[in-house]
Amino acid sequence: MDKKQRTYLVTGGAGFIGSNYIHYMFDKYDDEIFIINVDKLTYAGNLANLKDIESRDNYRFVRADIGDREAITAILKEYDVDRVVHFAAESHVDRSIKDPEIFVRTNVLGTATLLNCVKEAWQQEDGSFAEGKKFLHVSTDEVYGTLDEPKEGEEPTYFYETTPYDPHSPYSASKASSDFTVKAYIDTYGFPANITNCSNNYGAYQFPEKLIPLVIHNALSGKELPVYGDGKNVRDWLYVMDHAKGIDMVQEQGKLGETYNIGGHNERQNIQIIKTILATLQELLPDDDPRKANVSEDLITYVTDRLGHDRRYAIAPDKIKKDIGWEPDTCFEDGIRLTVKWYLEHEDWVENVTSGDYQKYYEEMYAGR
Ligand code: NAD
Ligand code: TYD
Repeated sequence: MDKKQRTYLVTGGAGFIGSNYIHYMFDKYDDEIFIINVDKLTYAGNLANLKDIESRDNYRFVRADIGDREAITAILKEYDVDRVVHFAAESHVDRSIKDPEIFVRTNVLGTATLLNCVKEAWQQEDGSFAEGKKFLHVSTDEVYGTLDEPKEGEEPTYFYETTPYDPHSPYSASKASSDFTVKAYIDTYGFPANITNCSNNYGAYQFPEKLIPLVIHNALSGKELPVYGDGKNVRDWLYVMDHAKGIDMVQEQGKLGETYNIGGHNERQNIQIIKTILATLQELLPDDDPRKANVSEDLITYVTDRLGHDRRYAIAPDKIKKDIGWEPDTCFEDGIRLTVKWYLEHEDWVENVTSGDYQKYYEEMYAGR
């Protein structure tokens, strides 16, 4: 290889979006890049997501906590890291309502430690940062709070990069805090970073505590499909590979210091999502598959609403489209088919992640709802 491989430090690469991103990057850049994946392997981290990547010479996995200063510093001493892409986080709103502290530890303190280690590794004697060093902080649209449903005859409202932060859940509050810490590094030290705020993702390898994989998994086993509140809360869904593409494009073409919203204008009520999944399962399952008989709208069960449940999220992706030319490739109809098909073909993966602690989690989270 003549050209120096560009070296990436990816945090949380064994999780849902991180592992899809690593697949996306190796598909796109092959041996032009070297990726070090740093992940603590919480309940949400699963090395099986990266089985086909493990044997690559240009990939290394390190099990570490982003809040472990020594471990992170050691990696940054061993490798001349050009890019950091920071996914590692506690990511589930329901868990944050039950146990907020771990969200502060990982998302706020962990991000602060990671940032400081990277700053120390990258900062030159005169305080500046060498050309080509870039940190991308992966965040969420949930930091902006909630939007009203558009009233008859009124234009719908959207989240823009300029929308004031107004987080409601412990999860979104911790992400907002981490975003502000990154912004502070940009403004104080001229730290070379970008922030992306993306809408809800769906696709392969998503842990079945989140709505879409949970509904697929429960429907196949004939279990109730728990709908919070009236089922009319709206989320703006994006296929995970389109998010991966957006992250890469922002890091390559974005202006340092800027924030970019990522979303594909795909707003759906939760109940619509559930009905679409049921219809897709009915269509994809062969008639002689015994699981087909389980799949029915009769499983839909309205349960007690989530505390502080945000009503509607909707991203305005105008800036990333105009400045960088990003647009999603996969429409929801195709993406949901691909996703349902993936779960049908990877029952062993689902079996593996839903055994053990998942059962306990499920019983506790949904008991008495
Ligand atoms: P996930 O829960 O599937 O994965 C998180 C990963 O981080 C796991 O592999 C876990 O082991 C690892 N991790 C957790 N704590 C860690 C720690 N202290 N040190 C090192 N590793 C740790 O999450 P996801 O859905 O893939 O989300 C990834 C990122 O994208 C998060 O920052 C999240 O806020 C953001 N995001 C998610 C969505 C979404 O719809 N899932 C949308 C927008 C933004
Ligand atoms: P989720 O996938 O947890 O993502 P987020 O809360 O980060 O948007 O939930 C998506 C929507 O689905 C949200 O409005 C809550 C709702 N929901 C249910 O109705 N039932 C469920 O069992 C779950 C997990 C979520």
